[in-house]
Amino acid sequence: MKATSDERDDAALTAAGLAARLAALENRDTLRFAMCGSVDDGKSTLLGRLLAEAGMVPEDRLAQMIRDSKKHGTCGGAPDYALLLDGLEAEREQGITIDVAWRYFGTDKRAFIVADCPGHAQYTRNMASGASSAELGVVLVDARAGVQTQTRRHTAILAMFGLRRVLFAVNKLDLIDYNHARYHAIELECEKLAHDLGISHADAIPVSAIHADNLVAHSPNTPWYAGKSLLEYLETVQVERRTDAAFALPVQWVNRPDHSFRGYAGTIAGGRVAPGNEVLVLPSGQRSRVARVVGGDADLDSAGAGQAVTLTLADQIDVARGDVIADPAHPPEVAAQFACHLLWLDDAALLPGRRYLMKLATREIGAQVTEIKHRIDPDTQAHLAATRLVANEIGYCNLSLDADIAYRPYKQDRRLGGFILVDRETNATVGCGTLDFGLRRDRNVHWQQLDVDRAARAKIKGQTPRCLWFTGLSGAGKSTIANLVERRLLSEGYHTILLDGDNVRHGLNRDLGFTDADRVENIRRVAEVAKLMMDAGLIVLVSFISPFRAERRMARDLIGEGGFMEVFVDAPLAVCEQRDVKGLYAKARAGKIANFTGIGSPYEAPEAPEIHLRSDRESAAESAARVADLLTK
Ligand code: ADX
Repeated sequence: MKATSDERDDAALTAAGLAARLAALENRDTLRFAMCGSVDDGKSTLLGRLLAEAGMVPEDRLAQMIRDSKKHGTCGGAPDYALLLDGLEAEREQGITIDVAWRYFGTDKRAFIVADCPGHAQYTRNMASGASSAELGVVLVDARAGVQTQTRRHTAILAMFGLRRVLFAVNKLDLIDYNHARYHAIELECEKLAHDLGISHADAIPVSAIHADNLVAHSPNTPWYAGKSLLEYLETVQVERRTDAAFALPVQWVNRPDHSFRGYAGTIAGGRVAPGNEVLVLPSGQRSRVARVVGGDADLDSAGAGQAVTLTLADQIDVARGDVIADPAHPPEVAAQFACHLLWLDDAALLPGRRYLMKLATREIGAQVTEIKHRIDPDTQAHLAATRLVANEIGYCNLSLDADIAYRPYKQDRRLGGFILVDRETNATVGCGTLDFGLRRDRNVHWQQLDVDRAARAKIKGQTPRCLWFTGLSGAGKSTIANLVERRLLSEGYHTILLDGDNVRHGLNRDLGFTDADRVENIRRVAEVAKLMMDAGLIVLVSFISPFRAERRMARDLIGEGGFMEVFVDAPLAVCEQRDVKGLYAKARAGKIANFTGIGSPYEAPEAPEIHLRSDRESAAESAARVADLLTK
């Protein structure tokens, strides 16, 4: 098993050199695989040793590794093959791999691109990004421990990202004395795991990285194993290749340097395009023809997948960032609601109804999970009921977007079917997922055009509909003040409605409790009701604790900036607790009410409310007057 000469020098290239190397490889058969395992399964050692055994590491590097092993190896001075991979000092110090490292190597049979995925639970996101572009998953299993929770998690992530073939490398066989029965038991466990997760092809190879057993040649230590060595397997395994044959260009930006030029720039996600081709713009459905294909500074005769280009079209049509320009013969689909697999990454749980930002290809759009159908138990792969997802959990969910997008099911197209969710407050990536299919229900439910609208209803009442949103701790005085405001408005001839948390929870929301998930749904419903009441032409007063910023923001977005006035009824917790009008604080302190706001559950104070009332410093009447004055002025 000899390496071709020009690859010898680059045994352990990381991302930087990858692009250049790839170009040279265009005509070679290439396998992309993701390698994962728990922290101590010996992943780096295995890869390093594989490269060394296959003759892909130059002599001087081997010598250097042996010298380094004496200084900072983890094998008590013996050769530490993992050192062949660790390019970064930081990684060495921590003794763990800290990011996905893209490694490249090749033999005369095949070239390999390896996503070397870290094992620690908190690096699940890197594991996901490795899996999302791999054709094969290689999962390391420590023969002493067998299949662990982390093995199951990793395999579940590989399954979620559509990998249909997984190789389990059962490592450290020397430490179980090459015991066939033990190996066979692990092999069966692995096969069952893969089967339960819907992975159609699972293989296993018994190896020992330290002793090079079954890495590049059959090991005499495992006479009972008749299969391929790891390298042979990698060189010959057949994987499903996705061919994104149909042309699709997600528009990254609209290039308009002057009136004479309007181009749509982006990276071609699949297929080829040439001047003269008919195209369909989605989600709008407009058609046109390609006028020019510009790459760099020059006009091109055609361009294909992976190329960054700017297209100009024959017709003046509306194309925006996030749209997809596609081949009309095989267009992406269009929908606003989906069934999807979702891997949650954030420490704060996913809550159905909470609004996030979704990024898919070049599209960014408001999104919420409307329902968690189930989550996957990492130990049994069973489908469990769930009202939330915590970090590292995988769920199957319904997802609802603010508007239609162009997409393809992830199984068909990774670029137009894979997405991430971003927290709107912090901009952090909180989840990643794969679209399974579009839900038809939004296709079959249409907006009914009505002749009498909000403006007409408001006009006969002689007022402008508004929403006064009172937020604050229990006992801060929201309802007392809202009540006074409503009395004053009524006396001046305004048409109003007051929605009070305690009251709405007796009717519409009586199925909801006080978990985070239920509070999110509580606020979602009341915001929708407030909006309907505004459509009726009313001035709406909402008095709910509404403890979370994200949901108050959701209400603001739903109702619209101009109509929404956030009224922060502010009093220190100690003051509210002292008042304890309903006796609930005493009960909460006595442990009789779980999740009580301010005690067992947080209150996130508004940062920029329209009105800030200090109910510990001014009377309810004074506060109410300030609110009413602002509204009526
Ligand atoms: S919210 O947090 O979901 O906005 P909401 O305003 O509807 O709360 O209801 C709050 C009222 O429910 C409080 O005024 C209090 O009377 C009652 N309550 C009962 N249990 C709790 C709890 N765990 N936390 C807060 N309020 C509670």
